[in-house]
Amino acid sequence: METAVRYYSKLGNTKKIAEAIAEETGVKAVSVTDEPDLTEYVGILFLGGAPYANIMAPQLREYAERLSSDKIGRVILFTTSNWSR
Ligand SMILES: Cc1cc2nc3c(=O)[nH]c(=O)nc-3n(C[C@H](O)[C@H](O)[C@H](O)COP(=O)(O)O)c2cc1C
Repeated sequence: METAVRYYSKLGNTKKIAEAIAEETGVKAVSVTDEPDLTEYVGILFLGGAPYANIMAPQLREYAERLSSDKIGRVILFTTSNWSR
């Protein structure tokens, strides 16, 4: 797979950005809660999430910790937030 878009979104904001990236790159945006881990090689992984009370959602952290560097070329992180920090 050349490109993949994965995200975690509680309220829908990050999902909207993920879907916009997916549309531009011609793939489907998939929530990390809706799909098992990546099984095939991905050249560019767009990975998105948001801070909640200054921390990353555990669902996203656990997904990121399970990623294997030999299955991914590059990771591009994206985020949404609405606080000053
Ligand atoms: C309970 C809660 C805690 C939040 N904590 C932070 C925070 O610490 N820093 C921040 O910049 N935004 C914070 N926000 C704002 C969210 O990160 C922001 O609305 C984000 O777009 C939510 O993403 P989502 O819609 O994909 O879940 C918080 C929002 C909620 C509801």
